[in-house]
Amino acid sequence: MSVHYHESEGLFVLETARTVYQMKVDGAGVLRHLYYGMACGHEDMSYLYRSYDRGFSGNPYAQRDDRAYSLDTLPQEFPSCGVGDYRVSGFRAVLPDGSRCADFRYQTHAIFSGRKPLRGLPSAYDSDGEAETLVITLTDACARLAVRLTYVVFASADVIARSVEIVNNGAQPVTLEKASSAVLDLPPGDWELLHFHGRHCMERQPERVPLFHGTLSLSSTRGMSSHQHNPFVILCDRCACEESGDCCGIMLLYSGNHKTEVERDQFDSVRVVTGIHDEGFAWQLGAGESFQTPEVILSFADGLTALSHRFHDFIRRSILRGAYQNRRRPVLINNWEATYFDITEEKVLAIAAKARSLGIELFVLDDGWFQNRSDDNAGLGDWEVDRKKLPHGLDGLIAQINGMGMQFGLWLEPEMVSEGSALLSAHPDWALRCPGRAPSMSRCQLVLDLSRAEVQEYLYDKIAGLITNYPISYIKWDFNRSVSDVYSHALPRERQGEVMHRYYLGLYRLMERLTARFPQVLFEGCAGGGGRFDAGMLCYFPQIWCSDNTDPVARLMIQYGTSFGYPSCTVGAHVSASPNHQTGRHTPQATRGVVAMAGVPGYELDLTRLTEAECREIAEQVRRCRETEALVREGVHYRLSGMREMARYAAWEYVSRDGTRAVLNLVVTDPAANGMPVHVKPKGPRRALPGRRGIHLHGAGADERRLHIRKTDRRLSVRRGDRHRGGLCAF
Ligand code: GLA
Repeated sequence: MSVHYHESEGLFVLETARTVYQMKVDGAGVLRHLYYGMACGHEDMSYLYRSYDRGFSGNPYAQRDDRAYSLDTLPQEFPSCGVGDYRVSGFRAVLPDGSRCADFRYQTHAIFSGRKPLRGLPSAYDSDGEAETLVITLTDACARLAVRLTYVVFASADVIARSVEIVNNGAQPVTLEKASSAVLDLPPGDWELLHFHGRHCMERQPERVPLFHGTLSLSSTRGMSSHQHNPFVILCDRCACEESGDCCGIMLLYSGNHKTEVERDQFDSVRVVTGIHDEGFAWQLGAGESFQTPEVILSFADGLTALSHRFHDFIRRSILRGAYQNRRRPVLINNWEATYFDITEEKVLAIAAKARSLGIELFVLDDGWFQNRSDDNAGLGDWEVDRKKLPHGLDGLIAQINGMGMQFGLWLEPEMVSEGSALLSAHPDWALRCPGRAPSMSRCQLVLDLSRAEVQEYLYDKIAGLITNYPISYIKWDFNRSVSDVYSHALPRERQGEVMHRYYLGLYRLMERLTARFPQVLFEGCAGGGGRFDAGMLCYFPQIWCSDNTDPVARLMIQYGTSFGYPSCTVGAHVSASPNHQTGRHTPQATRGVVAMAGVPGYELDLTRLTEAECREIAEQVRRCRETEALVREGVHYRLSGMREMARYAAWEYVSRDGTRAVLNLVVTDPAANGMPVHVKPKGPRRALPGRRGIHLHGAGADERRLHIRKTDRRLSVRRGDRHRGGLCAF
């Protein structure tokens, strides 16, 4: 049992292996939040909050004689709005009479084993048959609204999944203007926020900031989740480090516009509100209808490493699905950085043949294979093969690639359309754009209106047709622009505020149907690299192209930031050419290999231009990838360098579950002249200590806890004339 209700006290206790979550219905029917943290038993934690009259904080009418009772000061599970709690709210609605107030009080609750998947949205699943669900219904009698707060407890994973369903029990429609997935009130403390910001080619840069008095907002209004702010944040104690300290992770399973607000209020309490962004959001909730918010998963741990382990394990067990959830993914070669749009059958086959000879298993034909695609100005939407580039068509090409003993994969950008395409000419109203206004273009393309069932149907038929007509083993599903001009020609005026969320309901429906019908196909998500790197996408696609930046040194920070929430088996990572195409930096082949091996490895360069020695090195890397693959995919990941060390080197380690094997990688990015050697302290069980020979050494059993990487070990690092002096130290 992980959900407990102590009726006499109105106390709910959610218990996981190492954590406890408590809430309580008070005398006024307000559902108070009491505690979320490391296990502390069932003792009622109400004593953490003392009430006393705090001036100018409003008192609800029923408690008007009790000035110590104020919604503004109470920690709550789903706070009211407009009736005296002045902190950031998770809810806002325009009621039929025009008022915007809501005050939710406890009505009833239900507890059941298992979990129900969310209607139309991605959600975690109960892989071990251990989940228990608590649904608490709160109502606002005046507004005739109900909110069902759902808590799914995954006890052994130390995860609680939350979401909210809002029900209109009235006779007239209401307009939801804000419908967040969760509110989490934390007690006063020295909280800091660790979040992951960035941009195209520099995603998930970690930044840790103390909370000030005021509200911090991390969000996306771009119609995609995560180039700028990942929908994953960590609240941690000021003293928290990798090994210890209170850490609370909050991860939203949503790929569209999102917002996480973190407010430190006048009394130093902290409120976190997360969910769909309210900017541009307005949902007409008709009489008797309900609205389901996306799911958010919470975990609490002692130390950042433990918190990351919880999320890694949970994503591997309860988010990823399908044939590749626990299976080795093929090492691939992608032609993008080798050819860009300049594809010919001859070039493609030459790269594929070379790749095969080096042990690579999957060839991915990237952008440019279809008609009118000599650059990114045109061509999206019709998905007809360009016979000038590929005279034997896709079938001819795939047959030859399969004949080499390689699988074949294809790039698609299904959600986009170019002007001049047959699709847009036939259906000008299928693109998102406002009537009478020239739309903002980005990469010369428009976004299809996936809120429309007929657009979903068209894409389903196109993609299913490609997969059934050709032996396609892999699809890279790209999305290369931020969304603007959000307007659906299929929806009336008063429903335009629903378009962006309906878009994601449509996309999830499409992905659900395709992945269910083609479970053997490996889908890799992509959005200009890692612009949609979120747990919502991971419910359908087990890996995501982590960044368009393939420079291994830049990738170190990107992959380091990613590692706080997401396991390595979700991170697409490729070895590309040196000098790097994005940064111009020179790096040794070995460095590029080691960095790509910290994810799902692949290659993305013109292998036909490499020297024999370089090819031999790649063949060796591919062999090593296979050897370490299970460790990276299933093992326990440790960060061995923090933000401070990252200026000089990055080190990380994977340890097998049984503690008998480990792989430790180190990349020195700024070797100090005449400096001290880099000291790296392996983590994990002692018997998994990596040895000194080779990059993956099994159970060396040495007592030594410190490895001294000497200058001479940097022999692979520097090449004359290199602009960058980084390199690999393998020991
Ligand atoms: C995006 C992707 C790249 C590549 C190009 C093709 O930028 O992230 O990997 O597929 O599109 O246009």
